[in-house]
Amino acid sequence: MLRYDFQTALAEGLTSPRENAPTQAALNELYPKLTESRDRVLADAKVWADGGDVAQIDQPLDAGFHELPDRILAEFEQDTEQSELGRIQRVATELTDAVDTIVVLGIGGSYMGAKAIMQACCHPLHNELPSEQRSGPRLYFAGNGLDNDATSAVLDIVSTCRFEQDNKHDRYAVIVISKSGGTLETATGFRLFLQDLRGKVADRVGEFIVPITGAQGKLRDLSTALGCQNVFTIPEGVGGRFSVFSPVGLLPAAVLGLNAEQLLGGAARANERFANSLPGENPTMDYVAISQLWEQAGTDIRVLSVWADGLEAVGFWYDQLLAESLGKQERGPTPLTVVNTRDLHSRGQQHQEGQRDKLITNLSIARFSSPSLSLPQSDVDQDQLNELAGMPLPDMLRAAMEGTNQAYCEDGRPTATFTLPAKDEDSLGEFLQTMMLATVLEGRLIGINPYGQPGVEAYKRNMNAILRK
Ligand code: PA5
Repeated sequence: MLRYDFQTALAEGLTSPRENAPTQAALNELYPKLTESRDRVLADAKVWADGGDVAQIDQPLDAGFHELPDRILAEFEQDTEQSELGRIQRVATELTDAVDTIVVLGIGGSYMGAKAIMQACCHPLHNELPSEQRSGPRLYFAGNGLDNDATSAVLDIVSTCRFEQDNKHDRYAVIVISKSGGTLETATGFRLFLQDLRGKVADRVGEFIVPITGAQGKLRDLSTALGCQNVFTIPEGVGGRFSVFSPVGLLPAAVLGLNAEQLLGGAARANERFANSLPGENPTMDYVAISQLWEQAGTDIRVLSVWADGLEAVGFWYDQLLAESLGKQERGPTPLTVVNTRDLHSRGQQHQEGQRDKLITNLSIARFSSPSLSLPQSDVDQDQLNELAGMPLPDMLRAAMEGTNQAYCEDGRPTATFTLPAKDEDSLGEFLQTMMLATVLEGRLIGINPYGQPGVEAYKRNMNAILRK
């Protein structure tokens, strides 16, 4: 189960707290308002679950993400074959039988969740492993920008697939994800891969393209025109950055051989804890309370300090979630992801001695996936490490984290810590849903609608005007 420890984020837990550091009393005072906001979040979710009149509520209201894990799991239990998850698993099996390389096209919320899941739960060098050692096909991301070289690089990878042999190593497939169906970056990427595929398989392209899109739109129309055999729908009321537990995240996870049921199970547990646990024992509410109290005290940079390389993309996923949801009305915290110990050698100096505008939230794991490596004994001890010989790497990392926390604490700099039991589907599912709930809860608490991203339209308008001039 996910743990959130926050003693060193309150004045009482800091060795030399600054004058306006939040106290336990301030936290207690916030609880009634926080509980009211939680009730509002639960009520919003109920409107979607019951098919209520969304038009009556503040718009936009994309609260459909909340009940998604529970609903998908319940439908799967009731009718495994016909359910959405059953279909996702079936298509994933068809794809992995047919091809050994998949390109996922999408941007923002239409790719960051899948990338986070892959990086956290697959072998760190998944794509480099020989086919028989991988849990699924090689998976590459594209269509998430307009970088010529990045796109060319993925086209280079698929150029070796000629579709000439009856062999999955000679074939690739595309999963194209866009809820609106009209995002230029993804649509441009899609044209390029479509051109390549058409040149190779002509009118059989529909077998090798799986679109995931809204009920209507340009990508939906294109899917019909191309004869795509399998098309998935992003449910109404589920916004891009909240869509990781829809086919947007679940299909890539399933093709990678990951356990989608466990991802959803972890997410359902986050829902249960959010709805039923008291503040003080409720990671979602506690995280929001601590973060808000510090923000009110002028500490508005939220550093997510991840203590596993495989969690970097989880950090970037959260950067997007927080920034796009609460960065509105000239307000909202600024998210920043660091990977430690790597970034102790870059940003660490600033976090220890720079401006006092940062709340550090560690994200650590209780156990690593692979067997522990230990520092070897050596007959050349000029590096003077023999006294540490035999020390497992996870213990060394733990010492680095404890040492860093202690240094922040001694200087009155707040830290809190999320601990995941492991870097696996269940833990990740719980964490991702916790952070989505936290973002929505915080929005309700401070009076910012967490849904929608009106500010992103400005660049699109200008870019289109420039392009079509
Ligand atoms: O969170 C969001 O809604 C956005 O980040 C979208 O996911 C992103 O803009 C991509 O949109 P679309 O899926 O419509 O292509």
